[in-house]
Amino acid sequence: MKNYKIALIPGDGIGREVVPEGVRVLEAAGRRFGIGFQWDSFDWSCETYRRTGRMMPADGLEILKGYDAIFLGAVGAPGVPDHVSLWGLLIPIRRHFRQYACVRPVRLYPGLASPLRDQIARNIDFVIVRENNEGEYSEIGGRLYQGTDEELAVQESVFTRKGVDRILRYAFELARTRRQHVTSATKSNGIIHTMPYWDERFAAVARDYPDVRTDQYHIDILSAHFVLHPDRFDVVVASNLFGDILSDLGAAVAGSIGIAPSANINPEREYPSMFEPVHGSAPDIAGQGIANPVAQILSGAMMLDHLGHADAARAIEAAVETALRDARLHTPDMGGRARTVELGSAIADAL
Ligand SMILES: NC(=O)c1ccc[n+]([C@@H]2O[C@H](COP(=O)([O-])OP(=O)(O)OC[C@H]3O[C@@H](n4cnc5c(N)ncnc54)[C@H](O)[C@@H]3O)[C@@H](O)[C@H]2O)c1
Repeated sequence: MKNYKIALIPGDGIGREVVPEGVRVLEAAGRRFGIGFQWDSFDWSCETYRRTGRMMPADGLEILKGYDAIFLGAVGAPGVPDHVSLWGLLIPIRRHFRQYACVRPVRLYPGLASPLRDQIARNIDFVIVRENNEGEYSEIGGRLYQGTDEELAVQESVFTRKGVDRILRYAFELARTRRQHVTSATKSNGIIHTMPYWDERFAAVARDYPDVRTDQYHIDILSAHFVLHPDRFDVVVASNLFGDILSDLGAAVAGSIGIAPSANINPEREYPSMFEPVHGSAPDIAGQGIANPVAQILSGAMMLDHLGHADAARAIEAAVETALRDARLHTPDMGGRARTVELGSAIADAL
């Protein structure tokens, strides 16, 4: 029996409702495949921020360092500015633990309806690889002359050779395990320094992968292609901001943001990686017991994959497929009436 120490951070809103379903399904997979989990739950959230002025304690990262992985729900609550919850918890974890590869699969599950026409939606199966440590999400910048007519805000983007090359290589390596095709998201017509640099490095790295087909599109038309030709994509590599936007669009074309998983990977395994849904804390439906737990559950499958249990991960995906074929188990975001716990339990039972 292999045992893992997992840090649980349910967070806010529906994070608190879907994380228990993720744990339920991982426990079921553990029973079947001989994997044991020690779950240590941390109440690091906007609630904690209101009480203590911090999203997590000063030694939070030190505490997390000792875990094999982090399983997170979502953070964000009305009344707490979103940049506080993001920069107080998620971004420090992603950066300090060098989780530079944010991997977000997009797949249309049988039984689920895409908002796209059937013949377009048929082959949606691609992965977005988002740069997760630098790019447009930087702390460099500031404001001047606040409160006057001359006030201004400056926000710098940071694209380092190390940061760009390693995410591009991650995407090419991933493509080699799939359909050998990488698409780069760029905007080198409008953003004249960083994006031509991104394109240059994409071309340079591509030379090391002659077996992988490449494409690149400006982000505006790429977004249109996500809707019009989603079957064109295998691995899509993008900067931090572009990858963030594309992953919500990808989730939407695959039927619901409620089914989209995400992994924040430290490929060198010097630090724990973190697994969380693409979606946020959904304050509009929090507390009603109707959130879709599938994104959280599939993030758990990605965690097992990362820990070396591909067989258990595939079994969870198969159990999700089985459950989603039954429309009675669909939560309201998928057009049904099922509750979070019903769908989570059905997936655990299918294992
Ligand atoms: N990684 C994160 O923790 C993360 C990511 C995105 C947003 N947020 C935070 O979440 C809060 C809400 O943000 P938002 O409204 O932009 O995005 P959101 O993803 O929370 O919600 C967007 C819409 O999708 C629906 N939705 C999301 N997940 C769902 C699920 N599992 N089942 C059913 N419906 C679901 C919501 O009800 C809402 O209508 C904000 O505070 C934001 O900062 C956190």
